[in-house]
Amino acid sequence: MLRLPPECPGARQYAQGVSMRTSRARRTCLAVPGSSQRFLAKAPQLAVDEVMLDLEDSVAPGQKAAARAAVAAALGSADWGSRVRAVRVNDVSTGWAYRDVIDVVEQAGQHLDTIVLPKVTGPGDVRWLDVLLSGVEQAMGFAAGAIGIEAQIEDAAGLAAAEQIAAASPRLEALIFGPADFMASVGMRSLEIGVPPAGYPGDAFHYPLLRILVAARSAGLQAIDGPYAAIADTAGLQRSAASAAALGFDGKWVVHPGQVEIVSAAFSPGQEEYDRAELIVAACEHYAAAGAGAALLDGEMIDEASRKLALVAAARGRAAGLHRTREFTPPAAAGRG
Ligand code: GLV
Ligand code: MG
Repeated sequence: MLRLPPECPGARQYAQGVSMRTSRARRTCLAVPGSSQRFLAKAPQLAVDEVMLDLEDSVAPGQKAAARAAVAAALGSADWGSRVRAVRVNDVSTGWAYRDVIDVVEQAGQHLDTIVLPKVTGPGDVRWLDVLLSGVEQAMGFAAGAIGIEAQIEDAAGLAAAEQIAAASPRLEALIFGPADFMASVGMRSLEIGVPPAGYPGDAFHYPLLRILVAARSAGLQAIDGPYAAIADTAGLQRSAASAAALGFDGKWVVHPGQVEIVSAAFSPGQEEYDRAELIVAACEHYAAAGAGAALLDGEMIDEASRKLALVAAARGRAAGLHRTREFTPPAAAGRG
């Protein structure tokens, strides 16, 4: 549980975003095709924070019904440990979506944490799922609201409605960027999923990522980046994960076991960064108690704004189980040796 001073709005907003069901770690979210027995059997062995068993785009139309049964069976029979267990259903405009939800939740709802809803174009899509889930939960005797929702934003309409989508249901835990469908929706000139198009002098994903992040945080939700499909391009994956992590995202999808370590490292706070954050918090508190608004720490000016930034990084480090390895020593005391 995070402990942050209530007077710090930036840190409070982050803490809200990671409180209760949204405090689930989602640094690495593994996409698993629901029609593949081989991948379903392999998934519980991988060190990821979330498994997303897919009934949507990785499953051919003729295999949807079999995949529902395979996914429900895998949820109930495998040992998923502390991993978040999610199922991605088909989008609301299809004839598969309602049966995906009903079959999977009826058969394995007690083993399921969230439904990932793809191609969300407005708040109505999320409300539809919320109402349907309430009905199945009631019929099955599950706790009301037990199953969360992660909304995938992956087209122009969805991005334009990101704030309304983020506020559409108390079941929402995260907004997810879907680069492949988004690129197609807006006509971006790249054929590689998650790889920004060449020729644009900047990061073509900056706008959708930041828009999704702001919408998610404004509703206290997590923000998750989507897949990077070029499996052999580890340097590109590292760049993509590091850039989403630097922006403030909580995690990213992985589509292959070889991507797990890189993505996990990118979204885990480093010991040095965590130590520095705790040091800044302690120093700011020391100088504030002494009546100083700003002070120098290792040659850098720190003030209340630095403390707010540091509180966010410190909260992330504590949530990741890090312990500080350096203590702040006021200069006078340090001088006395
Ligand atoms: C994932 O669903 C994507 O469209 O990138
Ligand atoms: Mg998609």
